[in-house]
This record gives sequence, structure tokens and C-alpha cells, in this order.
Amino acid sequence: MCGIIGYLGERPATPIIMESLKRLEYRGYDSAGVAILNEDAHHTSVVKSASKVDTLIERLQEDMPTGHLGIGHTRWATHGRPTVINAHPHTDCTGKVMVIHNGIIENFAELRRDLEQRGHVFVSETDTEVVPHLIEENFRGDLVGAVRAALAKLRGTYAMAIFSQHDPDLLIGARLNAPLVVGIGEKEWFIASDITAIIPYTKKVLLIGEGEMVSVTPLGPEVSTLAGTAVKPKIIEVKWDVAQAQKGGYVHFMAKEINEASETVSNALRGRLSDEGEVTFEDFALTDRQLLKIRDIKMVAAGTSYYAALLGKYIIEDLARVPVEVEPASEFRYRQPIIDENTLVLGISQSGETADTLAAIREARRLGAKVISITNVVGSSMALESDGVIYLHAGPEIGVASTKTFVAHIACLYLLGIRIAAVRHRIPPERLRELTAALKQLPGAVHDVLESAPAIQELARTYARYQNFMYMGRGINYPIALEGALKLKEISYLHAEGYAAGELKHGPIALLDKGFPVFAIATASQTLEKMVSNIQEVLARDAPVVALVSRGSQVLQGMTVDALEVPAVSEFLSPIPNVVALQLFAYFVAAERGCNVDQPRNLAKSVTVE
Ligand code: M6R
Repeated sequence: MCGIIGYLGERPATPIIMESLKRLEYRGYDSAGVAILNEDAHHTSVVKSASKVDTLIERLQEDMPTGHLGIGHTRWATHGRPTVINAHPHTDCTGKVMVIHNGIIENFAELRRDLEQRGHVFVSETDTEVVPHLIEENFRGDLVGAVRAALAKLRGTYAMAIFSQHDPDLLIGARLNAPLVVGIGEKEWFIASDITAIIPYTKKVLLIGEGEMVSVTPLGPEVSTLAGTAVKPKIIEVKWDVAQAQKGGYVHFMAKEINEASETVSNALRGRLSDEGEVTFEDFALTDRQLLKIRDIKMVAAGTSYYAALLGKYIIEDLARVPVEVEPASEFRYRQPIIDENTLVLGISQSGETADTLAAIREARRLGAKVISITNVVGSSMALESDGVIYLHAGPEIGVASTKTFVAHIACLYLLGIRIAAVRHRIPPERLRELTAALKQLPGAVHDVLESAPAIQELARTYARYQNFMYMGRGINYPIALEGALKLKEISYLHAEGYAAGELKHGPIALLDKGFPVFAIATASQTLEKMVSNIQEVLARDAPVVALVSRGSQVLQGMTVDALEVPAVSEFLSPIPNVVALQLFAYFVAAERGCNVDQPRNLAKSVTVE
């Protein structure tokens, strides 16, 4: 959702905040703004733009505010349209208190009514604006105390950064159900929504826990609960580096991130899978004994991660023979799920911050289940609130559409499947040997798919003129069809649906005609003949067909289809190379249509509201 950055230090704040906002823009890009406390500490410069960060930067470059304390925000609108007035920072009646916020204040309407009755004047339509006014009301010379009193009145979710002319050496952060970290540099400190914003400046990160506040002064940060009890800071060292968060010569982050897929698989497997097929995870936390006790597994996730979870069901049930249920986290959390201490709940999330998934794992823990999260972000809320974590080791993903992290999720789910299967003695040594060897060759297969990008691009050029697409897959490639369709629709705004190929004849086939192409996943599988029949059924309705086929396969010979070859790997491991081909197809279609692939309209990278 929104991106937050605050700076206090010896360097000029504005350029650092501008640079960090660019890095945070993937969280939201409806509008942006900064507030900088000027050198004299008697005046605060506020600059806003009703569009993207670049426009804000242009404005700032015309007249750069100077000062060493400031905050910046990039917005994903919830309350109020993306206008200059609604852009953050928001302030109080005196113009001295500055607040930026990510989240939703659920009781803002009643708070605003009360504040207005007491004479406060509001200018925006946002929920956030109640906060500076509440701080103003509670200020009696102690800013931290006033913030604490204001926060106590709020219901909802927030990550905030706050400063005031009342105290020119103080930057305050607070969080409740929305992410916030503090970067610790040399005589400088950063408060940010996530570590991507601050990796050029520091690798030392202080994790603010749920319901905690931080007060940063030139003496350093002090953490406390919202109620005021001091908390021992948790500091971690981040391994990501700056180059990983740059485009590295690609036109879009998404192109770069798809092209990192081979390396991503290697990184997910590295040090975790021995040649003998033994799997070890660093922060897994569950003992073999606990794994043996598991009666069933439930997986909760959203969007692309939900499709990774669906794949996880195929993988884990096949390898370990444990029943797995997969549910969108937004449904699970309100459904009174049947789970107990013999259930293992897996939270699948790239960001580790998705509000629905976070709430679902909390509910699972409350009900006694063991929870493992599989996420890319070290120190994310889900990582902190689970019994154990499997990190994706995929490096930062900036493109709003998940690509390499989906690949990394699948790779980690193979490993987890093997681990559970081994403990339960469900995997015959011969299969384990073959699977281990094949997994280690997977980066090579992915590399081959990436090499075929020019052919995929050419095909995408032809297909970019259609408005509707159907994706179909079978078995373990059914979730890949769903993900292929999601990728296309979210970045190209074309209508695309994913279906289990056998389901087409039960309704969706009625949609097909010569203007409605079908993308069929027809790589080697035990159901390939069925898929070929499904393709025939589609062709009989005059629908154009693009088919993903295993290299050298003759199954579609004589049929009028546009075939894309991918390396021949086992059906069980085919989802990874197949999805990379589908990601490239979606990318090239969207690029051909001139879409903003890295920042598709209406979306945000990390969805921290319900
Ligand atoms: O960070 P998460 O993996 O929990 O995010 C879940 C979804 O919001 C995310 O996958 C979304 O669907 C992306 N737009 C996918 O490209």
C-alpha cells in the first residue's frame, strides 16, 4: 500500500527522501508528498503532487527545501481521491505537526466529527488527517506523549512517521498491523515501510514490533510499546544489496526479475538440498517429531501467492501424502476454520505483510496450529509472527507483478514437500535421488526458457491485439494456467481467465470464437492426450491457440497452433519453466500495448489493508 520514509541525520534530508520514495513507489503511486523541517526549525516546507513521485521530484528540484529532518509518502488511495489536498503529509491547525500514514483509521469519521465540534479545521477527505489534529489537542510540551495519547484513540491499522516544529530533533514512528522498520546509519536514521527504501544507506535495520513506537533523536532510537513500556530493540543485518534493487540495463524491473528466474531457483535451493536429497532450512523451527505429528496442512495466501499455494498442494500431497487444503487468506480468517495443534498452517507471501494473510496466520496460531511462513522479506510481520520461516532468498522484487518470487515459492515448496515426505518415510530412495538430481538441473532448464524470449516476444506481438484470453492447464499445471491469466490481466488490462482444461467444456467454451485465443499448457504429462483433445475442441470453435509444448514434441503436429517450445523436464517439475514462459508472454504483450508494466493501475505491491 502506501510507502513511508522519514529521515533524521546530518545530511540534507530532501535528496535522501526523494531517492527513497522512488524505491518505495512500487507500494503505491497515486500521489506523493514530502515535509522538510527547514534549517531554522521555524518553518516546514510541504511539497505535494497529485501524480507519481517523478512529478514531485521535478517540483522539489525547482526549489529544494533544506533541512535535516523530513518525511515523504507515496500513496495508494483509500479515503479520498488522489488529489494534492489528499496527498500526505497531513498537518494540524497550527501547521506544526506533520504526519504520513499507511493503513486505515476505521473510526476516523467519529473522531473528525468530534474534532470539528471542538473547532479543528480539516482540509482533506482522508482518514489520516485526524491524527495531526489529535496530536495538536494532546500536546502539552511533550511530543511523544501527545502522539501516544493520539494513537490510543485510533481504531484500525497504521504505520506512521511524525515530526513537529515543537521538537526539531525528534522523528517518531509507530505501527499497528502495517509494516515499519528503522534503518540505522552513521549519525543518521531512517524510518521506512520496508528495507528496499533504505538499502543504499544502511544494512543495519531495527525491527519495530507490532503495537510499538520508536522515538529517534540524535542519540539514537528508543523503542517502546504504544502504552509506553520500553522494549529491547531487535536489530538485524540485511543481505540485499543496492544493485539488486536497480533495473540493471532492463527497460522494466519486471523484465529484469523474470530474467533472474534461473538464479532465483539456484538461490532458493542453495545450501538446503544435499546431493543425497536431505533438506535443511535455517529458520524452520519445527522438529522431525513435530512434523510427524501433523495430520493435515492448510495453506493461506493471496493473489499470485495463492496460486503458488495451490501448486504446493499438488507437490506436498504427491510427495508426503498429507492432506493439504488451500484457501484465500481473506476467506480463511472469517470462516472459523477447523484446525488444532495437529494442523500445520503455511502462510505463503512474497512481502510477508499482506493484511489478509497475516490475519489468517494469527488466527491459525490462536487456534493452536503450528505456523510456517514462506516469504521473501526478512523481518517482515509474517516472519516475526510465525513459529518458523522459510525465506525465498530471491532478493528484492520491485515490479508490482510477482514473477521471480512465484518461482522461488515453488522451489521452496518442492523442498518442503521433500522434507515432510522424508520424515514420514513416504519418498522411495530411487524417487528422491531422481528428484534431487532433476531439481539441481532446473536452473539450466529455466535458463533455456529465458533464451527463447525473442520467439515469445514475436508471438506476443501477434497476440497483443486480442482483448480476451483463456489459459488452460491440467494437473500440476492447472495453477500455472491461473497464474498465466493473472499475470496477463494485471499488467496488460486484458481480460484473461485460467481454467482446468477439462472444465472448459462445462461452460467457458461458450465464450470461444476466432477473437478469443486460448493459451494451452501442453507440455509432457500423464494427461497430455486429454489436453490434445481439449485443444482440438478449442480449434473446432475457431479460437486461435498458443500452446506450450516440450521441446521436440510432435503431439500437435498437423494442428493449426502457435507452438512455443520449452525444455523437456518431468511433469512434476514443469511448472517452473512453464510459468517463466507465461510470464515472458504476459510481459511482452503488455509492453507491446505500451502499458506501465512495473506499476499497473490500481495495484500495489504489498496489500496491507483488507
Ligand atoms: O506479498 P504477497 O505475496 O502476500 O502478495 C499477495 C498478492 O497481493 C500478490 O501476489 C498480487 O496478486 C500481485 N499483484 C501478483 O502479481
